[in-house]
Amino acid sequence: MAHSHETVLISGASSGIGEALAWLFAEQGHDLVLVARSEDKLADLAHALAEDHGVEAQCYPADLSKPGAARRLFNAVNGDGQQVDILVNNAGVLEHGAFIDMDATQHQRMIQLNVAGLTDLLSHFLPPMAERGYGRVCNVASIAGFMPVASLATYAATKAYVLSLSEALAEEMRPHGVSVTALCPGVTATNMVAQVQEDNDTFAKMPGMLISDVDDVAREAFKACMKGTPIVVPGNLNLATTLAARSTPKWLVRRLSGLLGRSSL
Ligand SMILES: NC(=O)c1ccc[n+]([C@@H]2O[C@H](COP(=O)([O-])OP(=O)(O)OC[C@H]3O[C@@H](n4cnc5c(N)ncnc54)[C@H](OP(=O)(O)O)[C@@H]3O)[C@@H](O)[C@H]2O)c1
Repeated sequence: MAHSHETVLISGASSGIGEALAWLFAEQGHDLVLVARSEDKLADLAHALAEDHGVEAQCYPADLSKPGAARRLFNAVNGDGQQVDILVNNAGVLEHGAFIDMDATQHQRMIQLNVAGLTDLLSHFLPPMAERGYGRVCNVASIAGFMPVASLATYAATKAYVLSLSEALAEEMRPHGVSVTALCPGVTATNMVAQVQEDNDTFAKMPGMLISDVDDVAREAFKACMKGTPIVVPGNLNLATTLAARSTPKWLVRRLSGLLGRSSL
């Protein structure tokens, strides 16, 4: 595979959608900057990507939910002479349950990573892209970003933020030659979902046809990011859900989502 000379930073690259995207970008000859907390997993992945695809893959272990983590990462990456052409803002956490049954720290953890950490990475990596007149960003939202979801109230709210921010930035950054894509997957077979399924019967009994394959999601994300598509919803059923959510009166979406969400508690 020809070397693309573009470097992609992927947050949350140690598993799931982030890892699947790392393989796709490497297959296309992109160098990689891999970020997550699990240093060992990142090192194994970097080694495998370099061996199989001849790309450079550097690891930057970081907890992106901590204040200042994005700035430290940006300084470290810059200090090593790396230029990030593509940012995949994928790291995220989900907590399922009734809002009032969750500890305050569980809500804060989601907000600190899914909202604050994601925004801080954009604050640091977007300006140099705009200066160079080229860049691509893929922010990982969710179909949960299109509607309020009882039982996933805070998580869905963080993803609504990601979707709204991405749509606005897609327009703001267009004149600077930088595309911004919001990836909105439905339920996808990753550790995140396996953990919820372990603790919750409704999720455990979810029919397989409603669960997307992680490589299919990553392929659609890769295509959309490289084309600069503003919003991508992988899978026809998920796409239909988001179209329905946007065209149905808000009160009805809220009541239906409430009914489904409460039944999963
Ligand atoms: N799976 C789904 O059904 C689904 C649906 C819609 C959207 N999404 C979104 O897709 C994204 C990826 O999730 P996934 O499904 O692939 O789940 P996953 O397999 O659990 O991956 C999450 C990734 O985020 C990293 N991460 C977690 N906390 C972190 C922190 N504090 N700092 C840095 N990295 C952190 C994890 O690595 P470490 O643990 O090593 O830090 C891991 O690499 C998330 O934003 C999620 O909300 C998932």
